[in-house]
Amino acid sequence: MLTVKQVSKIYEGKVAYRALTDINLTIEEGEFVGIMGPSGSGKTTLLNMIATIDEPTTGEILINGNNPHTLKKDALAKFRRQSLGFVFQDFNLLHTLTVEENIVLPLTLDGKKVKEMKQKAHEIAEKLGITPIMNKRTYEISGGQAQRVAIARAMIHSPQLLLADEPTGNLDSKASKDVMAMLESINQKEKTTMMLVTHDPQAASYCNRVIFIRDGNFYSEIHRGDNRQAFFQKIIDTLSLLGGDANDLSSVRV
Ligand SMILES: Nc1ncnc2c1ncn2[C@@H]1O[C@H](COP(=O)(O)OP(=O)(O)OP(=O)(O)O)[C@@H](O)[C@H]1O
Ligand SMILES: [Mg+2]
Repeated sequence: MLTVKQVSKIYEGKVAYRALTDINLTIEEGEFVGIMGPSGSGKTTLLNMIATIDEPTTGEILINGNNPHTLKKDALAKFRRQSLGFVFQDFNLLHTLTVEENIVLPLTLDGKKVKEMKQKAHEIAEKLGITPIMNKRTYEISGGQAQRVAIARAMIHSPQLLLADEPTGNLDSKASKDVMAMLESINQKEKTTMMLVTHDPQAASYCNRVIFIRDGNFYSEIHRGDNRQAFFQKIIDTLSLLGGDANDLSSVRV
C-alpha cells in the first residue's frame, strides 16, 4: 500500500545537509510498522515525506500506486485530509474547542452533516474509552486522554494510512502502554495501515515490524512474530548495536 523507492532527502540551506540516502521500503495493507533510530537519523524526515508535508529530493513515494507528490495543491490537500491520519507527540489539539469538537474537526472541513459527525465521534470515542470526557476542554484532560483524543481525530475519517511521530513521547509509561494497546487494537480491527516513529522500545514492541535507520541510511529490520516480550528484547539488542546518543537512553522505558 506504501512504497518508498530510492528516496533521498537533502535539506538545502547555507550548508546543504543530506538527511536520508536511498531509502527503500514497502508496507503492506494492514501492517503496523515502527521506525527507530538515533536522534537526527532522519525518522521525522521520512515520515514527513510520506505524509506529503515535505518532498523527497530524489526517489519516489507511492501510496496505493499513486504518487501524491505529483498532485496539485487542492487535490493534495484533499488526499491528505481523506486518506491520511496524523498523530503527533504534542497532541496538536485546539484548546478553545471541546474534546468532541476536536474529534470532528476533519469532518467539518469536508462539510459533513452535524448528526453524522456526532454519531461517528461517539462511535470512535467509545472504542477509545473517552466517552466521559467528550464535553471537556482539552486543558481539563490528562496527557494519555489527550493522545487518545488525537487518535480519535486522526481515525474519524477512516484513513488508509495512519502516521504517528513519537505519539508516546510525552506520556508516562502506563499512559504510553494504553495508547499503544489502542493503536494495536485499531490496527487489528479496522485493518488501518500504520507507521509509527518512536524512541521507545516498549511502544515499538506493539508493531509487526520495526525498521531501523542510522545516519539517514537503512540499517536493519526485525519482525515481531507472536511474542511481544521477545520482540521487545530484540529491539533493545538492535538499538544497543545501533548506538546513539545519551538523550535516546533517557527516553527508554522498560
Ligand atoms: N528543515 C530542515 N532543514 C535542515 N536540516 C534539517 C531540517 N529538518 C531536519 N534537518 C536535519 O536532518 C536530520 C534528520 O532530522 P530528523 O528530524 O528527520 O531526525 P529524527 O530522526 O526525527 O530525530 P529525532 O529522533 O531527534 O526526532 C537532522 O540532522 C536534522 O538536523
Ligand atoms: Mg523526529
